[in-house]
This record gives sequence, structure tokens and C-alpha cells, in this order.
Amino acid sequence: MKNIAIAQATEYVGKTVTLKGWAYNFRSSGKIFFLQLRDGTGVIQAVVSRGDVSEESFAACEQITMESSVSVEGVIREDSRSPSGVEMQASAIKLIQRADEYPIAKKEHGIEFLLDHRHLWIRSSRQTAILRIRDQIVWSMRSFLREQGYLLTDTPILTPTACEGTTTLFETDYFDTKAYLAQSGQLYLEALAAALGRVYDFGPTFRAEKSKTRRHLMEFWMLDAEAAFMEHPESMDVQEKLIHRVVQDVLKNQKRELEVLERDVEALQKISQPFPRITYDEAIDVLRKSGSDIKRGDDLGADDETILSKQYSSPLFVTKFPTAIKAFYMKPDPENAERVLCADMLAPEGYGEIIGGSQRIDDLALLEKRFKEHDLSLEAFGWYRDLRKYGSFPHSGFGVGLERVVTWICGLDHVREAIPFPRLLNRITP
Ligand code: 4AD
Ligand code: MG
Repeated sequence: MKNIAIAQATEYVGKTVTLKGWAYNFRSSGKIFFLQLRDGTGVIQAVVSRGDVSEESFAACEQITMESSVSVEGVIREDSRSPSGVEMQASAIKLIQRADEYPIAKKEHGIEFLLDHRHLWIRSSRQTAILRIRDQIVWSMRSFLREQGYLLTDTPILTPTACEGTTTLFETDYFDTKAYLAQSGQLYLEALAAALGRVYDFGPTFRAEKSKTRRHLMEFWMLDAEAAFMEHPESMDVQEKLIHRVVQDVLKNQKRELEVLERDVEALQKISQPFPRITYDEAIDVLRKSGSDIKRGDDLGADDETILSKQYSSPLFVTKFPTAIKAFYMKPDPENAERVLCADMLAPEGYGEIIGGSQRIDDLALLEKRFKEHDLSLEAFGWYRDLRKYGSFPHSGFGVGLERVVTWICGLDHVREAIPFPRLLNRITP
């Protein structure tokens, strides 16, 4: 018998097929057993009538427990009451494994319990909706960048130096020396931009963030993009189009998932281009007027980002941060050396930073001055300095934090649900 996925069932009306999955719910009326079967692609009701199946099959039904794995054979028929429009009239059913008492009940559980059972929690309709949207976001970003002429390249995870400051490095032994887990692939991507023009990487990145917030993971997925001969304003245009595209794709293709999550889709529909842009200095004025005690020169905190991003219905670019609080590689603003050509993109509804980007320093002397100011070894960055010796070029890029985007688009309270197995402060299991 042909095995099909539940999502394909509507194409098999009137045909006999086999479905394999897990018991999501069930009830019995003595003569008829109703099984809600899920297989990751959808949920379908299989109706098992005593007269239609063997004794053995009907006995199997009585053994079924929540999350037992089951195989059901039967004919697919239309059913206007079912959300998918179809159900299965079973002709045979087999219990593959009878599940022990499932620890996750329909009742409310505390977050620590759920995180301890993350390997099972991911089967829930809410978590699978999030993971499906995550998949869509990744494919949207990749196809958009491909259309824009960006090539996917890969950057290393074990690295000899820091990219984003030395305070959040995970260190590991590397034979008789030390290595650090990558915080971003950016520096290597700059070398690849000189080889290929427009490039991006996508992979896990690591930050030993010693703070417990709803936005920080220790391991998260970042997409870095870098383009040769691109000035920062054009890079911001690419970022804007990228995020706009992601939102449109999710609205179009993930309606059902957004419904499961009870996401306010109107907030997503309101997003339009161009995205608003304000400078850091303007942001400080706005924040001080809103009662924040932030001082000019301070970095924006999570609360400041929330205040700012709540004022706009589209993502907001905050540009030209102070040189002193940003990474060593950012190019100074030609009009004011105290500010750099950079932008953070803040997601609306109070979600805050989802992208960090900048134009990079292309002048060797200035770059070397920065290494000294940031107490970074000139020697360790020899290869990176070479990029400014052999055909230096203006270039800009950005890094998108995948889980931050997922958290915002899904309307989640916390980034921990945006990744299958979150690595949080003091949590590395399961
Ligand atoms: O702003 P960040 O630190 O920028 C960079 O790493 C640049 N090298 C990127 C580049 O220009 N190629 O990080 C980029 C994004 C942030 O905007 C945020 O979305 C996400 O990565 N991010 C985190 N997401 C989850 N948990 C954390 N601890 C994160 N730290 C950064
Ligand atoms: Mg940043």
C-alpha cells in the first residue's frame, strides 16, 4: 500500500493508502475508535469501525496511548467537518510502539519542565508551527540573496581570534593552543567578498553572554552577508528588502502556522518600505524625552530598543552609533569621526535588534590604529590586514540573527522557543 504524508491526503480522496505517525488524541465509543494521527506534516482523523477491521486491528486500538507510534491503512474520504477537509476510514491499524505515559499533558506546564522535556515539547502544534516558520524564513533569506547575486560560502567555527569583542568568547583547547567559537563569520566573509564579490554565510555562532534576557542565546544562527564595492546605504537597502521579503513569504505561505500561534498578522501586514531611519543621536533625544536616563555615548539597552521600536510599525534603522561603543572594524563617518557608518535594525512591536551591519574600514593605517586601541594582536590579524594591502576595496555587510527574526515574526515572548534546542545561561540540556 502506498505510504503518504498526511499533508498529501487531500490528493488521495477515494484511494486506499497507508499513514504512519503518532497518536495525538483519541476517543472511543465502544464500536468506533477515533484516532487523531499526526506525522509532522499535519493531523488527520482516522475512523476505525469494529465491523470494518480485523479483531487484531481493533485490539490494537485499545492499546493506543498518547504519542504511541501507529500505522493505519484505509481509504481517504472527504469530510466537511474536518479542518483539512478529509479523514480516513481505516481498514487496518497497527501499533508500532505503545508509548509509556507521556510526560507532557494537555495541562499547563512550567517553563523549566518544558525546557527539560524540549526533545518532546517540540512535537506540540505550537512548537512545530514555530519550526515551520523558521524553515520558511531561512529559505526566504537564501533565495532572496541568491536573486541578488550573493553566493553562499562557509566560514569557520573554530577561530584563533575574536570578531565581536573578547568578553563573550567561548574558549576551547586546540591541541597546544587556544581556539574560540565564532561569534560571527564576518571577518572571513570580507576575505571571501574579495574572491567572489557578494557572499553570505549561514551557520551557528556563539556568545558567552552572561546575562539572562529574553533575547540572548549562547548559540544562535547567524546569516552574515558582505558585498564588495558596496557603500553602507546600499547595504541597508539590501537588508530592508531582505526583511520585507521574509515577512511577505511568511504571510503568504504560513497562514496556518500564524493562526496556531495566534499571531497578530495585521502588525506584520503593516510593514512597508522604506523602513524608517534615525541616527543614534536622534534616538538619544527621543529616548530622553520618553523618560529614559540614557546618556549620549551609552549603548542602547534592551529597554531603549523596546521604546524606540514601539514607535514604528515597520522595522527601524538606528544609524551612526558612537565609534567608541562599536566594533573595531567599522568605518568612521566622513562627516564625524566620532560616529561610524553602521546601523542596527530594530524589529517593531518592541522586539528590538534583529540585524547589525556596517561599512568596514578599508584603510590599513586606520585599521592598525584600531587594533592597538582595542588591544588586539596585529600579528593574529595579519591575514585580515592583508585584505587592506592587496587591492583594498570599500565594502559593507550585515549579520541577521535568525532566532531574533523568528521570535518577532512568530510573536514569541522569548527567544528560547525560536530554536529547536536552546542553549541558555546555565542550560545545555537536552
Ligand atoms: O550585531 P552583531 O553582534 O553583529 C555582528 O556580529 C556582525 N559581525 C555582523 C556582520 O556585520 N556581519 O550580531 C548580529 C545579529 C544581531 O543583530 C542579533 O540579531 C543577533 O545577531 N545576535 C544574537 N541573537 C541571539 N542571541 C545572542 N546572544 C545574539 N547576539 C547577537
Ligand atoms: Mg549588534
